[in-house]
Amino acid sequence: MAWRRARREARQGPNPALRRLTRACHCHSTQAARRGQIYGTWPTDERPRLSLAGAQDKCPVLVQNGDYFLPQQEAPSSHILKFELADYRHLPAYETFTTLLAGSIGLQVVEIELQSIEQVRYALIARYDRVLDEQGEVQRLHQEDFCQALGYGYEKKYQEHGGPTFAQCFRLVLDTSSEPAIDSLHLLRWQIFNVLAGNSDGHAKNLSLLHLPNGETRLAPFYDLICTRAIERIDYHLAFDVGGKRNPDAITQAHWDRLAEQCDVRARFLGSLLEETAARLLENLAQVKETFKVRFGAYPALQRIEQLVTKQCQRITKR
Ligand SMILES: Nc1ncnc2c1ncn2[C@@H]1O[C@H](COP(=O)(O)OP(=O)(O)OP(=O)(O)O)[C@@H](O)[C@H]1O
Ligand SMILES: [Mg+2]
Repeated sequence: MAWRRARREARQGPNPALRRLTRACHCHSTQAARRGQIYGTWPTDERPRLSLAGAQDKCPVLVQNGDYFLPQQEAPSSHILKFELADYRHLPAYETFTTLLAGSIGLQVVEIELQSIEQVRYALIARYDRVLDEQGEVQRLHQEDFCQALGYGYEKKYQEHGGPTFAQCFRLVLDTSSEPAIDSLHLLRWQIFNVLAGNSDGHAKNLSLLHLPNGETRLAPFYDLICTRAIERIDYHLAFDVGGKRNPDAITQAHWDRLAEQCDVRARFLGSLLEETAARLLENLAQVKETFKVRFGAYPALQRIEQLVTKQCQRITKR
């Protein structure tokens, strides 16, 4: 296989399929940072979606023994790098923290680490659609995001732009997952998490189905989890509405009941999931902050997320 040959050659010296990356990374971050600046004066009622702000540019790399390579031709990447931008300096830290928080309540999430190069921070995210074969070589798994799986073009990833609804995604999981009960429950908890943790960018391309080597189809681990509400100048309305409501501050029990009805689950069941998730998030916040600090250092700006999550969760636990 060309890729195997490339890797063998990589151990022996320079080759056309893998390019060592330190400089390319730096270049990419600088260009991306420039792009971020144009949104500095966006009016409050016309805030862009996070992806429209170009804020989530990704750089796929192969990571081997701590070295980064830019895969060429058919060589697969193993990780994705997401850099901080001039106007969105906290993105990598916010995504890392939000992902750790989601993991702490039992959601399956991508592996993520906060790193830096020449004082530019970035998130290093493992690709969930990769496995190592018996030779230790990276192999691809087939994945489909929910727009692809439901037959919507990528320009329809947001419900407000004519994209799928949460109920359609829920139905897709029930119809296609090899473990429909488990995966549909995860999906419900993901949407609850998005509302409580301020991730308003949970759209149909931020969900995927993964086709495993054993022939099973499963909901992929959750990715692109970020408390977008902690970022000024980004639209705070939810990508998927809850019972017709997109403003996360205006969602009441009646809206959750309506969502339950749309998904054909018992309202009382969804209500107890909501309460349980809110309680667990409140319980876990301090510990996740401590874990973050131990692994990546103190990061005072995370307070913003902590306050937002606490407020949202207390709306549920104190009612
Ligand atoms: N960690 C990951 N591992 C494997 N595939 C991923 C990972 N993160 C994202 N992807 C895949 O890459 C696709 C494109 O992702 P990307 O996030 O760039 O586009 P998008 O979802 O339209 O943009 P955004 O999330 O910025 O709104 C996703 O739909 C998903 O299938
Ligand atoms: Mg995405």
